[in-house]
Amino acid sequence: TGMFTYDPGFLSTAACQSAITYIDGDKGELLYRGYPIEQLAKNCNFLETCYLLLYGELPNEAQKAEFEDTVTKHTMVNEQMQFFLRGFRRDAHPMAVLTGLVGGMSAFYHDSTDITNPEHRNIAAIRLIAKMPTLVAMAYKYGMGQPYMYPKNDLSYAGNFMRMMFGNPCEEYQVNPVVERALDRIFILHADHEQNASTSTVRLCGSSGTNPFAAISAGVACLWGPAHGGANEACLNMLEGIQANGGIAKVGEFMEQVKDKTSGVKLMGFGHRVYKNYDPRAKLMQETCNEILAELGLENDPLFALAKKLEKIALEDDYFVQRKLYPNVDFYSGIVQRAIGIPVNLFTGIFALARTVGWIAQLNEQMADPEYKIGRPRQLYTGSVARDVKPIAQR
Ligand code: CMC
Repeated sequence: TGMFTYDPGFLSTAACQSAITYIDGDKGELLYRGYPIEQLAKNCNFLETCYLLLYGELPNEAQKAEFEDTVTKHTMVNEQMQFFLRGFRRDAHPMAVLTGLVGGMSAFYHDSTDITNPEHRNIAAIRLIAKMPTLVAMAYKYGMGQPYMYPKNDLSYAGNFMRMMFGNPCEEYQVNPVVERALDRIFILHADHEQNASTSTVRLCGSSGTNPFAAISAGVACLWGPAHGGANEACLNMLEGIQANGGIAKVGEFMEQVKDKTSGVKLMGFGHRVYKNYDPRAKLMQETCNEILAELGLENDPLFALAKKLEKIALEDDYFVQRKLYPNVDFYSGIVQRAIGIPVNLFTGIFALARTVGWIAQLNEQMADPEYKIGRPRQLYTGSVARDVKPIAQR
């Protein structure tokens, strides 16, 4: 067994070099290309953040305008995509639909499928960033039985998404700027997070030379799980479950269950592989949560009160303190999204929409790396030694 390092879950293995995102888990620090997430969330919009992640620098005014223009021109999807979507059951989980639609893009956009070609990768990046909101909104409208809304290009990235989600062809849609800003912030906070499970999946998938859309759909599939992007949905379901079973009065009982290892119950939205301190994204998300609930007159939202109570208990409880478990980005993002009117089963789709830029920036970095090789982990074999196949009557 001395031949390979055995490291299940990659607790101590760096699989690549990267200049995109930096996390200091002990300090609770997150930088995109060197810029603190707090400053980006305050001073930049999502598309500027996309530009930064993709090209390494924040855009100047001209670059920003050109990038926004380019992305805007690609927001429509091929008309055939809606017939593909129609093959799904109406009650299909949006993440199942998205995995299919994103993978399916490789069959629609042949000018951007060669992952070894930087130009193809760049067009694929623009297409994916531009079309994800359209696809997520289409998946939602399809489930609701409502007509799809075509993108409207004089709106901002977040504003256009809101209209495609909540607008209808019968009336003008008014974008609420506070909600628009909250959504844009959710996108910024989820845009990249170095070598998490879905990003590593995208890198591994792309390392075989498959096309960029296929690699990103693998990321969508990985993100779906409740230990990863699915945590926002799982967290809100948890809060609703506690609320339905007696609410704040039952919080203590619920926490006892969480601490009882045999119960299998986790405090969703808590804990992180890298952060052993407060997730800086959770702080910003809590701020946004306060703003959005005030704007929408939902200050007394019982789930928010419940979440704050759970957090307070956890931050003082030995079980969580000793294990350095703090709220992560998903602890408050679900409450914000629910307040905005996004259905719970679409939360992870919003995460996928936002993380798409991170996935493609990481993929670009990998493919441009002269040391890049196909990803091929080794194993420690624990099966039978070589043996002979017996005739069936003797088995
Ligand atoms: N509730 C209760 N106990 C927990 C939790 C939790 N949420 N998270 C970790 N623990 C315990 C765990 O049981 C273990 O205890 P012990 O040492 O006694 O066996 C200890 O804390 C260390 O946890 P781990 O599972 O070994 O840590 P990990 O790095 O393998 O897992 C995690 C990280 C995020 C998967 C895990 O904390 C978790 O499942 N959290 C809940 C799901 C969640 O919120 N995920 C979102 C992550 S952030 C958004 C994203 O990037 O997707």
